[in-house]
Amino acid sequence: MTNEVQTPSIYSKNNPFLSSIVENRRLNKEGSWKDTRHIAIDISESGLAYEVGDSLGVFPANDPRAVDELIAILGAEGNEKVTLPKHEVPVSLREALMRHLNIAMQNKKFLESMLERATDSAERERLESLLGSEARAEMTEYLKNRECIDLLEEHPSVRFTPQELVDGLKRLVPRLYSIASSPLQFPEEVHLTVAVVRYRTNDRDRLGVCSTYLAERVSAGAKEVPVFVAKSHFRLPDDPSRDIIMVGPGTGIAPFRAFIQERIALQSTGQNWLFFGDQRREYDYLYGEEFDRYHQGGVLDRLDLAFSRDQAEKIYVQHRMLENAEALWEWINRGSILYVCGDAHRMAKDVDAALHRIVREQGGMNEEEAANFIKLMRKEKRYQRDVY
Ligand SMILES: Cc1cc2nc3c(=O)[nH]c(=O)nc-3n(C[C@H](O)[C@H](O)[C@H](O)COP(=O)(O)OP(=O)(O)OC[C@H]3O[C@@H](n4cnc5c(N)ncnc54)[C@H](O)[C@@H]3O)c2cc1C
Ligand SMILES: NC(=O)c1ccc[n+]([C@@H]2O[C@H](COP(=O)([O-])OP(=O)(O)OC[C@H]3O[C@@H](n4cnc5c(N)ncnc54)[C@H](OP(=O)(O)O)[C@@H]3O)[C@@H](O)[C@H]2O)c1
Repeated sequence: MTNEVQTPSIYSKNNPFLSSIVENRRLNKEGSWKDTRHIAIDISESGLAYEVGDSLGVFPANDPRAVDELIAILGAEGNEKVTLPKHEVPVSLREALMRHLNIAMQNKKFLESMLERATDSAERERLESLLGSEARAEMTEYLKNRECIDLLEEHPSVRFTPQELVDGLKRLVPRLYSIASSPLQFPEEVHLTVAVVRYRTNDRDRLGVCSTYLAERVSAGAKEVPVFVAKSHFRLPDDPSRDIIMVGPGTGIAPFRAFIQERIALQSTGQNWLFFGDQRREYDYLYGEEFDRYHQGGVLDRLDLAFSRDQAEKIYVQHRMLENAEALWEWINRGSILYVCGDAHRMAKDVDAALHRIVREQGGMNEEEAANFIKLMRKEKRYQRDVY
């Protein structure tokens, strides 16, 4: 470790650094149903400093084909000058749609601005009905399945000038990615583990803006990806002899790859236990060779894997936790820190429920006592979550 005093970087969310991608490798093997990428980003000469547990903020660009479709439906050329809030200098319509505005899913306000402009009576009726107070659920469902282009296609009488459309769209916001590398091993790079989002709604293929930007639309080596470091509370213990338990299925593995690299660099003596899961071992064991090597070499004291689709019934990380309840309880009681990273909607809730059950059953507590015990774990930062 260095004792140098670091000057803070001039780069931040308000002034992102233009970085380049130096590695873009698919982590799933041929035949997988998923596309998860290892993306290495060069931050040399940026002065950006990161710690394990931090995330990288990325300002994406929209898919140029989607932007072209929008320009065409407006009957515009793309080179029309438009103004954006907080931008002193006007930019071209194409630049505004590519870099600055959310052209995907829209909200009620956008539907209202369409109604203001609709001249066809059938279109007006449809919009009025969607915006009516009784149709809340219908409007939510309608908007969920459509992007800006669908709305304009379905309402050809609605005419926006380039500036009116720009004024009606919300800003394109940066996306965060958990950092998957340690600065002690990769001071000039940041590694990310990115699940590429692709799905279909309303008979159209959709692309997650930032994940497909990183995976498919950035030219290798070009200094063009605006990034910043987002600080986190998800932290390794100061005491390197503390044991840690990491639960990170899917892309939730990212910060734990960083934790392990850091623990190796610091020669930490604390034990490391990892729970990882994904669909199929043969195709989806992300960074499998690395973690198997760490396990064989003793860096990972315990490694429990849950491949959900390798058998008829689903096996998830929380099932592995429950199978190992006694040992987990023992680790928790000797002060180990439990970390959970990954999907917030389902996984983190179910893992939390499994933890409550383990504390109840192994600790001989009732529901309330277990809840208080876990509350205290959280307060003392012995239970930390980075879920999204
Ligand atoms: C702290 C933090 C850390 C994160 N770390 C990581 C990480 O390490 N790796 C990672 O991959 N992601 C991570 N994320 C998530 C990441 O920030 C993005 O949200 C993710 O990459 C999707 O962004 P996108 O721009 O590609 O998709 P968007 O353009 O934002 O599209 C996503 C939206 O598409 C819709 N959608 C997606 N799938 C479907 C479907 N099947 N059917 C219908 N609608 C659908 C949903 O509305 C969803 O919100 C993290 C998020 C946070 C907050
Ligand atoms: N819309 C949603 O509800 C939702 C949920 C999860 C992830 N996502 C998004 O999908 C993308 C890919 O995510 P990812 O690759 O990180 O992994 P993931 O989809 O979270 O999947 C990783 C593993 O977790 C399993 N899993 C599913 N439900 C679970 C649960 N309740 N408890 C524990 N494990 C569970 C999956 O099994 P199976 O696939 O076999 O079920 C898979 O084996 C990300 O963009 C993420 O944001 C969306």
